[in-house]
Amino acid sequence: MIPDSGAKKMEWASAHMPVLQRLREELMDDQPFAGYRVAICLHLEAKTAYLAKLLSDLGAEVAIAGSNPLSTQDDVAVALAETGVAVHSHHGCTDEEYHAYVEAVAKTRPHLIIDDGGDLIGLLHDSHPELAEDVIGGAEETTTGLMRLRALSAEGRLSFPVLAVNDALSKYLFDNRYGTGQSVWDGIVRATNLVVAGKRVVVAGYGWCGKGVALRARGMGARVTVTEVDPVAANEALMDGCDVTTMDLAAPEGDIFVTVTGCSDVISGRHMERMKDGAILSNAGHFDVEVSVNDLSRLCGDYEEVRYGIRRYTRPDGGRLYLLGEGRLVNLACADGHPAEIMDMSFALQLLALKYISENPGLPPAVYPVGDDIDRRVAKLRLEALGVPLDVLTDEQVRYLSSWKV
Ligand code: ADE
Repeated sequence: MIPDSGAKKMEWASAHMPVLQRLREELMDDQPFAGYRVAICLHLEAKTAYLAKLLSDLGAEVAIAGSNPLSTQDDVAVALAETGVAVHSHHGCTDEEYHAYVEAVAKTRPHLIIDDGGDLIGLLHDSHPELAEDVIGGAEETTTGLMRLRALSAEGRLSFPVLAVNDALSKYLFDNRYGTGQSVWDGIVRATNLVVAGKRVVVAGYGWCGKGVALRARGMGARVTVTEVDPVAANEALMDGCDVTTMDLAAPEGDIFVTVTGCSDVISGRHMERMKDGAILSNAGHFDVEVSVNDLSRLCGDYEEVRYGIRRYTRPDGGRLYLLGEGRLVNLACADGHPAEIMDMSFALQLLALKYISENPGLPPAVYPVGDDIDRRVAKLRLEALGVPLDVLTDEQVRYLSSWKV
């Protein structure tokens, strides 16, 4: 490891996050987060660390926990702590330690929250409602987190407003599709050092993340099979050129499996029993429930660590199944997560979402969309940073588009 690797990773990431840099320049003098306590639960790698430091530079008192036991990078956590942010996380922590870290962040009695997956907001509602008394609102990064928050809201139990950053166009069209599409293959390739071309890749789930994973697999020369429960998404996969079938039928055919559904037990014992010798199993959904690790253990007993991030399970018939990153998010457990340029947009939305909430206190508890103005501002800032010009409608064209007459 190179000296000061955490600080250098943050520096590299920030140099490739021009939208956040622009917002930094714009907001620094105003210190919009002065007097606010911000609690963050995000994957603690370099891009996240830059966001946390930026919020701190903009006046906030920031505390952060990692949002997955395997996604925290310890060198980054150390470097971030040295900047004055309160860091509660370490790589490879147990589930108990993970919950204690999230609790430690909740105990800072935040005003503003950034969550990824809903664990922090869930904890503030479930076990520690007294720590949520100062919360003005929050923002959620992922599809899974929003599903949980909407369920909480449907029960009438959500106690503060949350902005659905995941659902902004400048988020899911880029982060979920191209971010996941690239970083999942980064994780699988780094972990295995095997070729993708010519292999049969089975992608479970054809949401925006699944679309990205399948797209990039095809780009690398894989033959792609998609499994789906949704008829529209299944048709999209077909018309994108993928094969579509059930997991039962795909199980004996696949060389590499990637689950990206948000659901549990997508690959279970009955599939594992029928897989090829040497099949590789990975997950890109938020929680480690999509590939049933319990079923793997029941079927195969103990595993052997055969390479960093790869567990080999051997069935009674001798068939070997390789599980990547313990069945946790393969792009973060086996690589560095999404590219910096992608997280630049997602985290710019997070920053502007928190700013919006701080400027609009008293919003009734609900899950709100990110405003179109914020969404388009982030997209525009990125184009400006890239030097990519846009055409502008003439007055005549505006009139044409707003009239029912041809
Ligand atoms: N880096 C930080 N947060 C991330 C996320 N939700 N997905 C991928 N990479 C990330």
